[in-house]
Amino acid sequence: MKDLSIYIHIPFCIQKCYYCDFTSFSNMNDKIPKYMNSLKAELNLYKEKLTDSTIRTIFIGGGTPSVIDGKYIYDLLGHIYNNLKIAKDLEVTIEVNPGTLDREKVKIYKEAGINRVSMGVQSFNNELLKSIGRIHKADHVYESYRLLREEKFENINMDLMSGLPGQTLEDVLSSVKEAVDLGVEHISHYSLILEEGTHLYNQYKKGKLNLPEEDEERLMYHRATDYLIKKGYNHYEISNYALPGFECGHNLVYWDLMPYLGLGLGSHSYMDNKRFYNTSNMLDYIEKVEKKFLPIEGEEEINLSSAIEEFCLLGIRKINGIDKGQFKMRFNVEIENIYGDIINKHIKNGLIIDNGKAIKLTRKGLDLSNLVEVDFLK
Ligand SMILES: C[S@@+](CC[C@H](N)C(=O)[O-])C[C@H]1O[C@@H](n2cnc3c(N)ncnc32)[C@H](O)[C@@H]1O
Ligand code: SF4
Repeated sequence: MKDLSIYIHIPFCIQKCYYCDFTSFSNMNDKIPKYMNSLKAELNLYKEKLTDSTIRTIFIGGGTPSVIDGKYIYDLLGHIYNNLKIAKDLEVTIEVNPGTLDREKVKIYKEAGINRVSMGVQSFNNELLKSIGRIHKADHVYESYRLLREEKFENINMDLMSGLPGQTLEDVLSSVKEAVDLGVEHISHYSLILEEGTHLYNQYKKGKLNLPEEDEERLMYHRATDYLIKKGYNHYEISNYALPGFECGHNLVYWDLMPYLGLGLGSHSYMDNKRFYNTSNMLDYIEKVEKKFLPIEGEEEINLSSAIEEFCLLGIRKINGIDKGQFKMRFNVEIENIYGDIINKHIKNGLIIDNGKAIKLTRKGLDLSNLVEVDFLK
């Protein structure tokens, strides 16, 4: 039996946030029923291939999975449970937006076996939320969080963002403190990336965006990290923090370069030494799946040397770094034989350390991780 994870993409949102370039639409709700059927049909196309796989984690992401009726999520997960072999300790995450939950939905999620909820909070400052196009206010976060706890969800993540236009260090720290005070088990804390084509990007190009200076943004990151560590959170990946035992199993699959299957619009997969991705065109996706064709738009063979590159590129983002023993076991060669020069160069720069067991980023390296990452690409 092989372990496998499944990612399911739900591309519907109420409104497009100003920073977001994920595959998501605010004007396609009429496609929800067809799309949800297509997801089941797409899974059927893989069924035969997956008879010797055990599903360890499922991640329902988006978009905003919580905008659609809970019955679709229940039905889809039921279809997966009925057709694939499922691990006893299956982790099932759903992404939700504050303000899109009600008790009935939360109860259905519980019945459907969902045991981890990831809430896109971004900030507890209402003005900031409005300025980045969020539909919710801080009160919606408290309300959704209370509902989830009342229905006995015991593993909740909050996504927070730093480096937003007009955001101060105090804003960032007070949002992190708010999430900690609520008692969430996991926090993902992302620095804003200005993605081409987004509203914020266009504002930036016009010189209309008041972004924090780079030093200030780095200070936000380090102060938030120090605070979370002080509060007992394990900083386990550049942007991720968890109370002990609550690290996200699904994300670890990505960072450890383990196999996963992505279902739905624009989703990516890594299986059988291949990376492949689906079309991002809704009509094309539905039509292909209806005709029993895989909706794959592109694929790339991952040979030994690209697997080594990816293993390092993803592994270095983990705070524990690239485990040298695992590297040797997986690729049958010492990491120093492949990357000796690069490792030495970045140890000298002060960006990484080699503690005998692993190669990992230093505090300075956390800020300049991209310099290390590019060097792993041969
Ligand atoms: C698919 S979205 C989350 C789900 C949900 N739709 C929501 O927004 O609440 C995943 C997370 O990525 C982060 N994110 C999205 N776009 C980003 C960007 N341009 N820069 C940094 N973080 C971003 C946000 O924190 C967001 O919550
Ligand atoms: S951040 Fe989330 S809610 Fe906002 S547009 Fe992107 S996917 Fe939708």
